[in-house]
Amino acid sequence: MARYQYPPGYNFFGTYRRALQVVRSPLETLMESVERFGESYSVTDGISGRMILTQNPEFIDYVLRKNQKNYYKSRMVTEKLGRFIGNGLLTSNGPYWLRQRRLIQPGFHPQKVKELYGIMNETIGRFLTTLPTGQQVDVYPLMNRLAFDVVVNTLFNINLPSATIAELSRIISEIQEFVITDIRQPYNSWWFEWSGRVRENKAKAERARDILRGVVIERKAGKAKYNDLLDMLLDARYEDTGEGMTEEQILDEILILFIAGHETTGNALTWTLYLLANHPAELESLRLDTVNLSIADTVGHPKLTAVINESMRLYPPAWVSDRVSLEDDSFNGFSYPGGTIIALFYFGLHRSANYWEDPLMFRPERFLKEKERSRIFFPFGGGPRLCIGNNFAMAEMALFLKSFVHQFDVQATPIQPKMRALITLRPERVMLTINRREFKG
Ligand code: HEM
Repeated sequence: MARYQYPPGYNFFGTYRRALQVVRSPLETLMESVERFGESYSVTDGISGRMILTQNPEFIDYVLRKNQKNYYKSRMVTEKLGRFIGNGLLTSNGPYWLRQRRLIQPGFHPQKVKELYGIMNETIGRFLTTLPTGQQVDVYPLMNRLAFDVVVNTLFNINLPSATIAELSRIISEIQEFVITDIRQPYNSWWFEWSGRVRENKAKAERARDILRGVVIERKAGKAKYNDLLDMLLDARYEDTGEGMTEEQILDEILILFIAGHETTGNALTWTLYLLANHPAELESLRLDTVNLSIADTVGHPKLTAVINESMRLYPPAWVSDRVSLEDDSFNGFSYPGGTIIALFYFGLHRSANYWEDPLMFRPERFLKEKERSRIFFPFGGGPRLCIGNNFAMAEMALFLKSFVHQFDVQATPIQPKMRALITLRPERVMLTINRREFKG
């Protein structure tokens, strides 16, 4: 009798055929596999045991929360990203991760985030004055820039020349692009090393660190307090030793917050504008419900939150995540050894008819009805590794959306955007027409 009861799935040849399809169209292939085998299924490369993929919400909850002690993030992303951006919250595991999380968490306490609303709103206001109007525009680069500016201004209050900020932004995007290519083409890893592309990207990461190191050194030397996250990272002390982070640790965490904190938000905002442009009645209703809101009432406003949540349901920026089991484990009749990778397919769950009525329809009101959704809705992950920036991101998106809908109109164009399922679900060619409205609310 087999020692482990894996979920049903592909044999070696099926896995191989499917892997080729996954590279071409990951979302469709994963959804087809669920159709064929059920919410949890397994694949094998014939060497490293079976890997499990699941969109079952209880299984996801089990891995992320109930038995989280038995799961680490897999090396697939953490190592590939970590070799450029270092060992910080997003890329570490175990005791080191927990120590960093405890140290940094207070900087994202809702009260702390509240202190940032003003500067967030100013950054958004300045950005809106630069929005190109009266023509079709590709919205994603714009939203990505906004999200980057918000991170720069609110978290690090960095006083750098705009050319240096642009360089930092470019380096971060280029490293991300390379990491994505590297993850999606594991068979070319040797070539990336050999041809010098890994070295080239490490040099870029070093340049980003040099820029940020300058900021940290200047901040340490000065007396002024900015009360931003950088001050908090510099002042924080580990409970056990009473010591602070080293300069290199601080640089790791800054780079990680830059990376984790802007692309996801940029994606979510782009998809939200796309959905509103295609649902003018929803856009109008959002406008009517959010007239003359103060900043404090904007953040957490039920209608704004519902629209953002519905957008992240249909287009979860983090469309998949993974964990690896440390010890043998079992769930609901399945069992598997330590070392098994489990991919958590949030995109599939968020669009599953088993849990959502008319799952492909954009209906923000589903989030207004009194109903517990947290067990079937994972835009920010779950358990102890829940996104540390979730309150920050929700505040930023609500403030943006409220200002945007009152100052602008947005219309759809016949161009169909594409979902690029990379590390995040990146929108491609979301071409919309934006016009300034005559009356502002
Ligand atoms: C719409 C915006 C965002 C989405 C959808 C999002 C989503 C996520 C998800 C799903 C995770 C968990 C990944 C996993 O379990 O494997 C995560 C982790 C993380 N996020 Fe976010 N995120 C967003 C914005 C932000 C922002 C604004 C910041 C910081 C400024 C941030 C910083 C982080 C960090 C540091 C982690 C790692 C936390 C840990 O492992 O302890 N995120 N995010």
